[in-house]
Amino acid sequence: MALFKLGFFVVIACLSASSTASPTSIGRRSVTVTLDGVNYVNKGLVGFGLIPHDFKESTGDSLGGIGSAIALKRGTWAKGSNGTYTGTLLVRPDRGHNIDTTIDYQSRQHEIEFVLTPYTGSENLNFGDAQKTLQLTYKNTTLMFERNNTKTSGLDALAVRPTQGSDPELPIPSEEFSHLSLDVEGLVAAPDGTFWISDEYGPYIYHFSDDGHLVSAIQPPAAILPKDKNGNINFTSVESPTTGRSPNQGFEGLTLDPENNILYAMLQSATIQDGGDDESTSSFTRMVAYNISDDSKQPPLVGEWVIPLPVSNDKGKTRPSSEITFVSENIFLSLSRDGKGMGNDDSESKYKQADLFSIAHATNIQGMKFDDPSNPVAPNGKLDKSITPAKYVSFVDYLNDDDLKRFGLHNGGNFDETLIDSKWESLALAPVNDPKSPDDYFLFTVADNDFLTTKGVALGIPYDAGIDVNNQFMVFRVTLPRPIAKA
Ligand SMILES: *[C@@H]1O[C@H](CO)[C@@H](O)[C@H](O)[C@H]1NC(C)=O
Ligand SMILES: *[C@@H]1O[C@H](CO)[C@@H](O)[C@H](O)[C@H]1NC(C)=O
Ligand SMILES: *[C@@H]1O[C@H](CO)[C@@H](O)[C@H](O)[C@H]1NC(C)=O
Ligand SMILES: *[C@@H]1O[C@H](CO)[C@@H](O)[C@H](O)[C@H]1NC(C)=O
Ligand SMILES: *[C@@H]1O[C@H](CO)[C@@H](O)[C@H](O)[C@H]1NC(C)=O
Repeated sequence: MALFKLGFFVVIACLSASSTASPTSIGRRSVTVTLDGVNYVNKGLVGFGLIPHDFKESTGDSLGGIGSAIALKRGTWAKGSNGTYTGTLLVRPDRGHNIDTTIDYQSRQHEIEFVLTPYTGSENLNFGDAQKTLQLTYKNTTLMFERNNTKTSGLDALAVRPTQGSDPELPIPSEEFSHLSLDVEGLVAAPDGTFWISDEYGPYIYHFSDDGHLVSAIQPPAAILPKDKNGNINFTSVESPTTGRSPNQGFEGLTLDPENNILYAMLQSATIQDGGDDESTSSFTRMVAYNISDDSKQPPLVGEWVIPLPVSNDKGKTRPSSEITFVSENIFLSLSRDGKGMGNDDSESKYKQADLFSIAHATNIQGMKFDDPSNPVAPNGKLDKSITPAKYVSFVDYLNDDDLKRFGLHNGGNFDETLIDSKWESLALAPVNDPKSPDDYFLFTVADNDFLTTKGVALGIPYDAGIDVNNQFMVFRVTLPRPIAKA
């Protein structure tokens, strides 16, 4: 199956990717791909910035892991008169450092202001000048609590808090320490000022108020919940469940269709019953959709689809997805990648891309037998013949050599601060507002440095992770036309 898929992806890439001189002429050739008859263009890297590994936030802790989830703060995006853009990014670390073990890290959200001065020249900037294209200023931090002001925790969820009121079973470290365990990987800043986050323990979607208090929790279908051989929920991340999400492969992706109030969440890779216990069979992941129009504590599930993640050329290993972003009806960006680069022991990354997929012709499996864990959509990684998966095409390649060189960066070779980070995990779009290219957007993407620093502080306690990894940010310019509406 892996080999068959491999051929499929190669063919798609050859047929649909072509290089043409870009009309707005960024210092390299742009790349056009076609999906559902629409052309999407990657015009290349236009911004790079970083926050140093040893930076401390307002609580005194190291500012780390911030690329786990990002969102543009509503109402902050502005185009200056001098070609620059300003705004505020909301960023979320996951569960704190995990050097020896998970820690009691309270979930939090930081605000980071930026000035983007897009660089479109063809000369190679040095690393110092490259950082002037995206200047970042940390502002403040909001901590996360339950309704009764109990702090949330990052500790592994070895116990289950039974259902209470409108809350489903919730992940907690232990019965004695009944704090909600969160490992946050997705963020949506809702139009009403509240936040939706997705996590890996549940994997759940949580609604939080603007001041960081839990409002509600959405439990996914039974097929996605981590269950042991007796069918009981066990949220731990240290052992694989018998069915449901794989450990640390939860809802990495979360995004909102703001016009229709549909929230989409995607698993990083296949559930265990769909082949998720092995990287060579874990490519058929699932995306779910919830309708949040009615402000209900339990929004209804309105869709579920199978997304075929890319697989490596050599060993057929799945490239898991660390984020999704809604583009237009049925069309999404997915950030799929390997774990190599700065922060890993192999510096040469083979795949880091923001790709496109379409669910326009995919089977909506919601409410079908596949919501029961005993009916896999892809037993041992082979897709059930009754299901049409999403269509997936290659798009923005983070490892493009011309792009990296123009910003003083590199892939492979020396481990230094100009090596591209390993774990890019977030995406956000902002309109370029260029009347000549009305469909152009800036695509922001941020890496999760896993709190790796030799000068760390967590929960007020110094730590040394043995390596220094900065929090890197990149900005690409892309053309994302809306499909022509059906008559
Ligand atoms: C352009 O304007 C922005 C926002 O007003 C300002 O922060 C920035 O320094 C200016 N840049 C240049 C190159 O003048
Ligand atoms: C963070 O700073 C921004 C402006 O820089 C402000 O609007 C916001 O209220 C602040 N939030 C907190 C939690 O202090
Ligand atoms: C806070 O609320 C949760 C959920 O209702 C409960 O389990 C926990 O015991 C409460 N904690 C305190 C300190 O009241
Ligand atoms: C979940 O599994 C872990 C690891 O086997 C175990 O220590 C823990 O007690 C289990 N928790 C529950 C609620 O069964
Ligand atoms: C979402 O809910 C709203 C309000 O109940 C409804 O009008 C709309 O059709 C629903 N959308 C979907 C896709 O279910």
